[in-house]
Amino acid sequence: MPRRAHPLFARWYPGFAAPLEPRGLGERRARLLAPLTGRVLEVGCGHGVNFPHYPAAVTDLVAVEPEARLRDLARERAAALERDVTVLDGQAEALPLESGSFDAVVTTLVLCSVEDQDRALAEIHRVLKPGGRLWCLEHVASSNRAVRAGERVFDAAFWSHAFGGCRTGRETGAAIARAGFDTAGLAPRRYPDLPFPLSVSPHLIGSARKPA
Ligand SMILES: C[S@@+](CC[C@H](N)C(=O)[O-])C[C@H]1O[C@@H](n2cnc3c(N)ncnc32)[C@H](O)[C@@H]1O
Repeated sequence: MPRRAHPLFARWYPGFAAPLEPRGLGERRARLLAPLTGRVLEVGCGHGVNFPHYPAAVTDLVAVEPEARLRDLARERAAALERDVTVLDGQAEALPLESGSFDAVVTTLVLCSVEDQDRALAEIHRVLKPGGRLWCLEHVASSNRAVRAGERVFDAAFWSHAFGGCRTGRETGAAIARAGFDTAGLAPRRYPDLPFPLSVSPHLIGSARKPA
């Protein structure tokens, strides 16, 4: 499936995202990834910002990233950490990986950006072992229907073009359930938790299980 590349986004995203890490995002990543063990796939790893947070119990780490510049930075990050990570070119909708071969799949701030969410989630489901889990930290659509309608207009007019295909109005939890996952381990959270509404504040954090 051909994917529209976002080279400009790939150039500015690492610098844009860096200040968010010490402001709570890094801590959320660390908490999300702490329970992981075994063979893990990260989809849309960007510049490898999650790599320092994988525990030693992760014995084999594979990452897929479609943007060449981000892939290079991810490889550099893995080398700097002296962490063995296989970083592959690919996209979520057609994972270049064997079925039923991962204990866990990770997506952080990625399911908002994939072009075909249902196809991406079907692929994630395919590569997981039975009983394996999708661990995610994703911003999702507002639960308020009027705000959600506004988000879709905002996405079409501006956000999606500026932010590498990202959409703020996606109902990712429903899509994960539709793909056949048990979503009981996913919890709604606000980040950043500001006193005023921000279209990227509603998040879904936790894990969804592929039935055994
Ligand atoms: C907002 S960035 C998040 C990067 C990183 N996961 C993080 O937590 O900072 C979105 C990432 O999703 C990747 N992406 C976009 N479309 C994708 C697709 N179809 N398959 C896999 N990754 C994709 C982008 O290249 C980018 O690395």
